[in-house]
Amino acid sequence: MLEDLLRTWDGEEVAVRFDAPTETWMFVCVHSTRLGPATGGTRMRPYADPHEALRDGLRLSAAMTSKNAVAGLPLGGGKAVLAVPEVPQGGRRRETLLRYGGLVDALGGSYVTACDMNTSERDMDIVAERTGHVLGRTVEGGGSGSSAPSTAMGVFHGIRAAVAHVFGSDDLTGRSVLVQGVGAVGRALAGSLAEAGARLVVSDVDGSRAAAAASELGAEVVPADGATSTPCDVFSPCATGGVLNAETIPALRCRIVAGAANNQLGAPGDAVALAEHGILYAPDYVVNAGGIIHLTSLELLGEDEGRRDERIRQIADTLTECFRMAEAEGISTGAAAERMVAARLAAGPAA
Ligand code: NAI
Repeated sequence: MLEDLLRTWDGEEVAVRFDAPTETWMFVCVHSTRLGPATGGTRMRPYADPHEALRDGLRLSAAMTSKNAVAGLPLGGGKAVLAVPEVPQGGRRRETLLRYGGLVDALGGSYVTACDMNTSERDMDIVAERTGHVLGRTVEGGGSGSSAPSTAMGVFHGIRAAVAHVFGSDDLTGRSVLVQGVGAVGRALAGSLAEAGARLVVSDVDGSRAAAAASELGAEVVPADGATSTPCDVFSPCATGGVLNAETIPALRCRIVAGAANNQLGAPGDAVALAEHGILYAPDYVVNAGGIIHLTSLELLGEDEGRRDERIRQIADTLTECFRMAEAEGISTGAAAERMVAARLAAGPAA
């Protein structure tokens, strides 16, 4: 029941619309406005039923509260899910996005949207025809364009911080790093890692992508189904969520997990399982915040690229603090990150 999900959720409000002309369920989940407007992307995909779509939105919006808080941004957490009968194209896509833009606008700025799964910068240009509460439009459309290079930059700094913590130096020369998923983020990350002298291994369900990245960067390729069990210093999930679970964790042959994918843990207890296996886990929402930092810094705060890059570099310091707290307190890095989020939320917005 939708009602049960809503009643047991710890967030602030959810706007629910069934948009009959486009047969789309629209859920805008405002998890927290404690630190600023609830901000997070718009996910568009078919779901088995509206219940499943709402569940996704509720969970993802809570993760955005954590991500934005720990990144030190003046933002709360939110997420929108457009549960479409099939991913629309052409005129129907435009109509869906315009009607959705109207819904975002009706919330009066308590929710600010951006791109997520199956929505692009061009889609945000269309949403912006109906509302000003949108980040991540194209550069031609007045936005700051793709956030993927900044996400990759943040993960790169995060990997260096993790390597420094485990091996005593952040020098990546000769360190083996396996990048799972060489799409927008993974490919950019792989480029930076190769430049820094890492021994690169790539893997992608799209074999031609993996082969292209490998030949351009001098990397080794492993098949998609062998990625999690390949020996390496750093395993970097940059494809899908749920990669770290009861089945894969015992098979991992790495010292560090640090990657861009959202919701990497199958279950919250998996952070403990990683620690028990002697693997340092960089909590996903800490290490992958470069994208939202990019959008906020350039579009909301009016900063320049130098200041944005400085903020992205701070991901390394935040992670180091998280690793040290976990060690000192004998807790998982996941639990340490949660404590950092709680402290930021308790302190409230910066004056
Ligand atoms: P993308 O769609 O450009 O790339 C994903 C790549 O992973 C594709 O090449 C795809 O073929 C591959 N892939 C899919 N399933 C796979 C599997 N099971 N094994 C190996 N490869 C697989 O997506 P993008 O933008 O690079 O994002 C990657 C991850 O990072 C996603 O989980 C996304 O939610 C997350 N993320 C992205 C941000 C951004 O700024 N783009 C920000 C924060 C998180």
